Amino acid sequence: MPPQLPAGGAAAAAAATASDRLTLPAPFSQIPFYPLRYPHPSPIHPLPHLTSSLNRNKSERNSVSSQDSPRITLWAKREDHSSPLAASGNKYRKLEYIVPDILNSHNTSNNNGNKVTTLVTEGAIQSNHTVQVAAVASSLCLDSLVLLHENTGAGLRTTTDRASFLRTGNVQLCKLLDAEVRIVPPGDDSAVVEDDLVGPVKVLEELRGRGKVPYWIPSGASLHPLGGLGYARCAFEIAAQEKSILSLSVSGGGGGGRFDYIFVACGSGSTLAGLIAGFKLLEKTEAIIQNNGRLLPPRRVIGILTSPTKPRAYHEERILRLARATAGLIGLDPERDITPDDVRLDHRFVGAAYGLFDPQTKAALETLAHVDGVVVDPVYTGKVLRGMMHWVAEGEIVKDWSARVGAQGISGVDEVNVLFMHTGGQSALGAYADI
Ligand SMILES: Cc1ncc(COP(=O)(O)O)c(C=O)c1O
Repeated sequence: MPPQLPAGGAAAAAAATASDRLTLPAPFSQIPFYPLRYPHPSPIHPLPHLTSSLNRNKSERNSVSSQDSPRITLWAKREDHSSPLAASGNKYRKLEYIVPDILNSHNTSNNNGNKVTTLVTEGAIQSNHTVQVAAVASSLCLDSLVLLHENTGAGLRTTTDRASFLRTGNVQLCKLLDAEVRIVPPGDDSAVVEDDLVGPVKVLEELRGRGKVPYWIPSGASLHPLGGLGYARCAFEIAAQEKSILSLSVSGGGGGGRFDYIFVACGSGSTLAGLIAGFKLLEKTEAIIQNNGRLLPPRRVIGILTSPTKPRAYHEERILRLARATAGLIGLDPERDITPDDVRLDHRFVGAAYGLFDPQTKAALETLAHVDGVVVDPVYTGKVLRGMMHWVAEGEIVKDWSARVGAQGISGVDEVNVLFMHTGGQSALGAYADI
């Protein structure tokens, strides 16, 4: 049995000491929240050398006059530096809204007044999500069980060092965090998940049979009903950082004082979906952001798909559904406020398979490491980086931006700010050492 939580609960203690000091509108502000990150926003910093080299490439490759070609400035939001817990990444924000449910779910009919003892989740062999769930379990004095599926993605299939892939990187971290790690071979149906909301029935029954009270967290925490709230909150955090990092007082046609484009990985989907819903709420409630008295187009969140397994249309439908579910919780009208047009997914950088470290992603990863000293991961943020670099270097941002400001009759916006969401994942790099 794990040790009992201290009287009053660790949640209450943590909530008293940690706050990101965001002001959220009701009813969003009233949704229970359990801080798992530092009591300050994750940092945003410029990527100066990548910015210079891509702006150079952009002008060389595209014959756009400087008047129509704003300067693009690249920034990184370091979600990999957001939490003191292991391998900081995007799952901690999601889990901040799920932990209150974990701590209260003894009240549900399933649990008959018994407190949760064990967090259960699943992922690919080098899943980042499972590490973060295991770390949260440790921090709550709970057990964790992680199911790692051999046949999810191509990482294990294509590695030249199978034994190492199965025990280094995130697998090693899960074990260090005291999770029970079960490697699930292809064809083993003992851990099959038919319904993401229900979880692996046999595993959960087995735990109950041993007197445990399991709590199921779906892969990536995205299909959990509360899974999108963390990144809806993050939208407000980004907007607050814009005020301090970028100039709001625009004179003579400078930048709009906003992160105009935000690039983020799309895997299980609720990071992107949460951002879409959060920015929608923000843009409805914030003071109108203007450039020389003219309304600028809304911030554009672009999801970079990380797996070719399912077609883009499948993901678009799923993101729309997740964004609407989150929208409904935070006070928006899901159907009216979130439209298919809000869902922007780019599938050109998926590579041949999920979890496969392709040469183009590797080149992008090496470029950033060499020029700005920042390391990203091979499965998610590497693909986002590659996609974002393409959008800048090939003039796609300029084209998109010009069309949007042109449609609103705006000219003279000479700077566009682009934010790269660094959602973590470097802890998998060791498992990809031979590639
Ligand atoms: C490092 C990293 N970035 C991005 C993502 C994608 O987030 P989501 O599953 O919410 O789409 C993941 C998912 O596991 C991840 O591990």
